[in-house]
Amino acid sequence: MGTMTGHVLPTGKICYGGDWNPDQWPTQTVSEDIELMREAGVNLVSLAIFSWAKLEPEPGVYEFGWLRDIMDQCAQAGIFVDLATATASPPVWMARRDPSSLPVNVHGTRLEFGSRQQYCPSSTTYRKHSRALARALAEEFADHPALVLWHVNNEYGCHILQCYCDNCETEFQQWLREKYGTIDALNHAWNTYFWAQTYSDFSEIHAPRDMPTFKNAAHELDYWRFADDQLLALYLAEREELRAVTPTVPVTTNFMGEFTGLDYWKWAQHVDVISDDSYPEPAIVGGAHEVAFTADLMRGLGNGRPFILMEQVTSAVQWRPQNATKRPGQFALWSMSRVAHGADGILQFQWRQSPGGAETFHGGMVAHSGKRSRYWPEVVQLGRDLEAASAVIDGRIDAEVAIIVDWDATRARQLSVGPTEADANFAAARAWHRTFWEKNIACDLVSVNAELDRYRIIIVPEVFIDYPELSARLTAAAENGAHVVVAAPTGAVDSTMRAVLGGYLGSLAELVGVVVTDHSVRSPDVANWSKADQVVADPRVDRITRVVGVPGANPRHTLDVTSPALERALDSIATPKPRMTSGVWGEYVQALHPASEITKPTWLNDEVEVIAQFSGEDGCDLAGWPAITRREVGRGAAWYVATDLESVGREALTRVVGAYARLDTSGADFPDGIERVKRGDVTFYLNHSDRAVQLAGVVGWDLISGQEATGHLVVAPRSTVAIGAQTNATS
Ligand code: GLA
Ligand code: ZN
Repeated sequence: MGTMTGHVLPTGKICYGGDWNPDQWPTQTVSEDIELMREAGVNLVSLAIFSWAKLEPEPGVYEFGWLRDIMDQCAQAGIFVDLATATASPPVWMARRDPSSLPVNVHGTRLEFGSRQQYCPSSTTYRKHSRALARALAEEFADHPALVLWHVNNEYGCHILQCYCDNCETEFQQWLREKYGTIDALNHAWNTYFWAQTYSDFSEIHAPRDMPTFKNAAHELDYWRFADDQLLALYLAEREELRAVTPTVPVTTNFMGEFTGLDYWKWAQHVDVISDDSYPEPAIVGGAHEVAFTADLMRGLGNGRPFILMEQVTSAVQWRPQNATKRPGQFALWSMSRVAHGADGILQFQWRQSPGGAETFHGGMVAHSGKRSRYWPEVVQLGRDLEAASAVIDGRIDAEVAIIVDWDATRARQLSVGPTEADANFAAARAWHRTFWEKNIACDLVSVNAELDRYRIIIVPEVFIDYPELSARLTAAAENGAHVVVAAPTGAVDSTMRAVLGGYLGSLAELVGVVVTDHSVRSPDVANWSKADQVVADPRVDRITRVVGVPGANPRHTLDVTSPALERALDSIATPKPRMTSGVWGEYVQALHPASEITKPTWLNDEVEVIAQFSGEDGCDLAGWPAITRREVGRGAAWYVATDLESVGREALTRVVGAYARLDTSGADFPDGIERVKRGDVTFYLNHSDRAVQLAGVVGWDLISGQEATGHLVVAPRSTVAIGAQTNATS
């Protein structure tokens, strides 16, 4: 991590504010803005993110006076500044003087000026000028009292993740030379013997532009990693300039949650303050969980340290086909949820809605209608509430559950051609996280390199790449008492996309006691087929077609439970007892070391207990094969889930695993809709529902309302209570 510790603001308060673009407005509006910021309790603004053209109107000619004037006004008003290096959108002079500074897309088309992020990461012109601008800004504002944070660039890779120009191609060849050393090593790693792709020299290797058909996934994965490194190098170059002049000012660049383009585990090592931009769709029920998941992810990236929410929107964005507005209270509720999960700052994109350009109708803290907007009172109230909740600052969250999240494995899964199309980013990790979140059980999201000793339960969800190092640490954790739950598909390829041979799971097989001999995917949704293939058999004439034995349309898997504990768990979920179901993914699993007497069809041994098996319903050929197994390991155990469990299955299984692991599940008993999160000494009760919810046994002071709870507490719809003293809550 970076060198900085402690609070972003010297006042030790929760940060509140947003992106401010005063350069789009007349001075009168700027003065009005400062007044309104004071009214709203704004104490931090991000400045100059898209101001390059105004800061450097001609190459090497800097005009910083206007920015100094704004910074001075901020300082006078007690507003701190997260100052951008302004390098996210180069001015037109760069494009016109050096057209090769513009990026090239995968089709080989050079992209034009007139939008934003139009730079090639390999462009020497861009590199030179961005570095110089960062340096000049640092020198200009080094001692400015308002400066508390550097904001390098903006959302690296958001639009241009990979450039496919000739310069990038040349740099890629060099990157490959350094990675592989010899062309033979590359040929082996990429298995270029397939489809006659063998190279005799690194200079023959191209950027993976459009090709006739499927590309070599290893080629693409390396290009992805290369492009990630290119962008990181740009960030590091700017940071070097900033550090040289202002060594004590922390540096950040804003992440984009579960964006898979950049490996944020790698980036997180180079930022002093983790910051995130987060725009969950407000009109879907999954939005509330996405807020929690991304916040936990950011806390994980900072290894438990607080982070800043750098961007969200007060109400609606403008970039969706239909931009749903947030409901009254939702803006504050989702803000407090981030605070509960570890944020020490809540910033918005943006302070004032733009008067023109592509983001005219993107929400702002100040709407086009000004103070008459419905949102203004909410903006002001949230400022007060956050200030009141500032006691939580620096507070840590203790989690007994860890979920592994790995960018590289997720990319590998996305780039792999088959065995199924990958689901949305980190879909499996998100699903398992939600199972714990629904029960108010705190989870840490951790990397494959994390220390695992302190966790009772460790979930390894869909980690497509086999990591022998991780397997060793998971084994040690299980021996020390942890319950390791590995969920499919895991350990299918190595880090160069070569298939794991001898049974999938690779280095994890020893721990879980089983190997995966075959993947088994159920048939796709027939509705997506072409008309010609959607054959409907006419029983009067189609004598073969009408009896062809295929499973039904879009079938799921159904599991039979073989463990009494799991049976009881299902029983306790609902009446009548629900079935365990899963999605399209299934696997043939056998014991790694089969017993001498092989019993078909499970091929298991005494060590491996079958917890649930595939039922074989709906034409599933996995009938009787293990779907969930368990193996005792030292003081803990290793569980293997050979299918993509749906929520009831995950719930039932985590109840059983939780009981074995003696997990604290007291949070599960709150009334529907109540999210309870403990951060430091503060306990948050967030009501995500439209009804007022009563809680009994809550004792202490609500930091937000200032009221004392003496046992009985009502949490209004879409609102938050944050109890600052000891509590002993039950439903
Ligand atoms: C991103 C960018 C902002 C703005 C918002 C709009 O997060 O960083 O500049 O474009 O999207 O939602
Ligand atoms: Zn390029």
